[in-house]
Amino acid sequence: MDTSRRQFLLSSLGAAAALSVARAADDQRRFTQFDPHARHRVSEMSVDEKIGQMTQPDQMSLASLDDIDKYHLGSLLSGGDSDPKSGNDLLSWTDLYDHYQSRALATKQRIPLLYGIDALHGHNNVIGAVIFPHNIGLGCSRNAALVEQAARITAIEVRATGINWAFAPCVTVPQDIRWGRTYEGFSESPDLVKVLGAAATRGLQGKALDDPLSVLACAKHYVGDGGTSFGTGLPRGGKQRFGLDQGDTRMDEATLRKIHLPGYITAIAMGVGTIMPSYNSWNGVKCSASSRLLTGLLKQELGFEGFLISDYNALDELPGTRKQQIAQSINAGMDMVMITDRYREYYNTLKELVQEGTVPMSRIDDAAVRILRVKFSMGLMNPEGKFLADRSLHKSFGSPEHRQVARQCVRESLVLLKNEKQAFPVKKTGRIHVAGKCADDIGNQCGGWTITWQGQSGEPTKGTTILAGIRAAARGAQVSFSRDGSSAEGASIGIAVIGEKPYAEMQGDRTDLHLDAEDVAVVNRMKSAGVPVIAVIVSGRPMLIDSILEKADVIVAAWLPGSEGDGVADVLFGDYKPTGKLSFTWPRGDSTSLERSDPGYKTLFPFGHGL
Ligand code: BGC
Ligand code: BGC
Repeated sequence: MDTSRRQFLLSSLGAAAALSVARAADDQRRFTQFDPHARHRVSEMSVDEKIGQMTQPDQMSLASLDDIDKYHLGSLLSGGDSDPKSGNDLLSWTDLYDHYQSRALATKQRIPLLYGIDALHGHNNVIGAVIFPHNIGLGCSRNAALVEQAARITAIEVRATGINWAFAPCVTVPQDIRWGRTYEGFSESPDLVKVLGAAATRGLQGKALDDPLSVLACAKHYVGDGGTSFGTGLPRGGKQRFGLDQGDTRMDEATLRKIHLPGYITAIAMGVGTIMPSYNSWNGVKCSASSRLLTGLLKQELGFEGFLISDYNALDELPGTRKQQIAQSINAGMDMVMITDRYREYYNTLKELVQEGTVPMSRIDDAAVRILRVKFSMGLMNPEGKFLADRSLHKSFGSPEHRQVARQCVRESLVLLKNEKQAFPVKKTGRIHVAGKCADDIGNQCGGWTITWQGQSGEPTKGTTILAGIRAAARGAQVSFSRDGSSAEGASIGIAVIGEKPYAEMQGDRTDLHLDAEDVAVVNRMKSAGVPVIAVIVSGRPMLIDSILEKADVIVAAWLPGSEGDGVADVLFGDYKPTGKLSFTWPRGDSTSLERSDPGYKTLFPFGHGL
């Protein structure tokens, strides 16, 4: 079935019907076809070897390289800041992967490692990778084919380092924009998430998982991560709860299914190999310990045939002793555990739990079979297979062709919110004065999960800043720049590129979404210089922009566009006509509540708005 037809079916049919259509068309995607092979292999494995497959330490916590052999490790990951010691360049990452994979290939079992990484918007840990817009921007493109293409390129760049597993797509459906992970979601609407999440899954996993240009995908964070109640999130300052991240999703089952489940249903239909249970709770019960959600809903009802990978040290968050935490999660249906320095303890304790019968052997077998089925489907169990990195892929890493697709993503993700006085599109004549903290800053335009976990301002990687994009596009004009908006006098137009500085999970929850005083001052300075002002907002969520609403003649939401700032210039100059439509509702500054369901929430621009 071709992609557009599939997308159409998935978006128009009910979830269950779509699932069976995709299943029928795609029997070769079913992991159960590898069941006999996986069962046979598992029947020859010791308990230790099976538990080893269920263990995923962060490489930076690995006490000894020989632990790959000693603990029969099935997988390793690099968390957000878990980088090669020699640097974040392409070669160092490729060497890091080969170093660990070679060790796994030298064991008696010779089962290759799955190596996981957060490739969320490109292979974003590696300097020089093309960085795509974060999902919130892609949601505004409403273009499933483009999202699939971006994910395809991400997969190819990930494979250039040898890595074979991406913890993506994030199919969260954020309901409260104060959450610091809002930008990781395509939309507040499950209808958009289910179509774009499926497209991204297909792009990452390609036509077949054993294609050397495919990576294993991971739909996350199951389930309801974007629906937590404010004030139930991570503790701040001792016991006081704060914000939304990792909080409690308080809603009935019908609502949970309606809003937060559709993205998983379509990802499963696309053959997603792994799903990551979330840190959050559902009505007080941690998802990572809920057999109802993991086994009942996901594996039994939805027929998920891949395996479940826990979130980073999610075990630590469960109630009870260490032993109880492990027993609860594994018995609930967790198949592999993502863990840092406590991996030896986890491995030994799980063995104890099996010996004493608290975790049944059948559960261990099921987990090992699920993991090996996926490894078989990826061709990793082929005795003739080549599992070290294919360095010939280095030549297309971060290539102009890849950047061209990212630039198209940027163009299609921008939303023209307001357009008055014919200031838009910008003419390429006279003097254009550019200002603002996000105008000449690759780090700000890439946001979190870029080279570092939380992201950083400045120049963490290569790319074209928005200012550089404007300069390149408007060769006939004079382009001047001041960060604070001064010296705009006499310019024909002012472009203020303002917004947020990078953040990610845990640290990105905010109660105040007003623009910074610094940003408002930039607009004011240019306005009082008598120059028409275009405000370009670089942010991971809608901001409260009432302070500039009247002053800016044109307002564009650019989200977190990534490394290709020239895509922003393409829209500003009308070389590409704006097509983006809001994937989130945009609140008014005088809202007394930022919860959309609350009467105090007032809408400035509705979902779908875009001029
Ligand atoms: C890691 C991240 C992880 C986070 C959460 C960080 O140190 O780099 O990958 O998500 O911790 O605990
Ligand atoms: C995040 C996940 C991520 C994992 C590994 C966690 O803290 O919640 O999204 O995949 O770390 O870095």
